[in-house]
Amino acid sequence: MSHVSVRVENLTKYYKKGLKEKIIALEGLDLEIYKGEIFGFVGPNGAGKSTTIKIIMNLLFPTRGRVEIMGRDAHLPHAREHLGYLPENPSFYDHLTGEEFLCFAGKLVGMRNTDMGKRVQELLELVRLDQAGKMAIRRYSKGMVQRLGIAQALVGNPQIIVMDEPMSGLDPLGRGEVSQLILNLKSAAKTVFFSSHILHDVETICDRVGILVNGHLTYLGSPSQILDIPSWILKLEGDHRDALQERRFQSVTLVGHVTQTEVPENRLWDAINVVKGLGLPLYALERKKLTLEEIFVKEVQGEPEG
Ligand SMILES: Nc1ncnc2c1ncn2[C@@H]1O[C@H](COP(=O)(O)OP(=O)(O)OP(=O)(O)O)[C@@H](O)[C@H]1O
Ligand SMILES: [Mg+2]
Repeated sequence: MSHVSVRVENLTKYYKKGLKEKIIALEGLDLEIYKGEIFGFVGPNGAGKSTTIKIIMNLLFPTRGRVEIMGRDAHLPHAREHLGYLPENPSFYDHLTGEEFLCFAGKLVGMRNTDMGKRVQELLELVRLDQAGKMAIRRYSKGMVQRLGIAQALVGNPQIIVMDEPMSGLDPLGRGEVSQLILNLKSAAKTVFFSSHILHDVETICDRVGILVNGHLTYLGSPSQILDIPSWILKLEGDHRDALQERRFQSVTLVGHVTQTEVPENRLWDAINVVKGLGLPLYALERKKLTLEEIFVKEVQGEPEG
């Protein structure tokens, strides 16, 4: 069996806006999600994350490209059986209790009544809602609703769990709980693909990360690899902010009597030459590791010109 759970090839989606204009939501996305990994799909608002996820779930047609689920075309009826799905901003029938809602979800995936009671209790325990199973969903907190949504995604015991922003709107404690649930799924040999713009969560639990900006993948790799992309802090004696900003240096700040600027490693020598050329008093160089947050912002802003 293949080690690829989800294969996305040349995926492109244009939305029509009015009669002539089109919105390019996604363009030429190639991606492989490996069996048993936690993959974090990160990007700012409007990057195309939900569009990608809806196409994977066969809820939306792509303009171009294709998706395979465990080696089968996503359009084929059986492909979806492997997938569990937590939509973005889930809203459930809130007059139901958690237990009733999970039974309803179980029926949708074709579960028999005789198996239902046990499975629903298992799931409620898994997401720590066993005390709240008989409570109406409208009385649930946001974190409880989100956990119920995850239970719902797991009802048919799928191999691959796709979650669109499972941590959105949760406080740090709630995010930690969802992170732990995702790690538990990995321990149970499941594949998890989830989107987020909360970079910290992706940084800590994902095996691999893809960064999507304006419909294009700008980074693909391990989170630690991202954090290893080093940059350097150049320190100059005195206030030289204007001179540096004029030459398009990034993150120029004055700290006491020292002007600092940040330069990616691949531009370090260029930057030093520019500083020397301007006759500025460079007195220190410090190596700095970027956080995912900073990488993310850089990808959005584009390359500095140094
Ligand atoms: N049904 C639609 N019709 C027209 N444009 C759409 C539609 N759905 C999404 N878009 C546009 O496509 C682009 C990508 O949207 P998408 O929802 O996939 O982004 P996202 O990464 O999920 O963003 P967010 O973080 O806000 O959820 C955006 O510019 C959005 O405005
Ligand atoms: Mg979205």
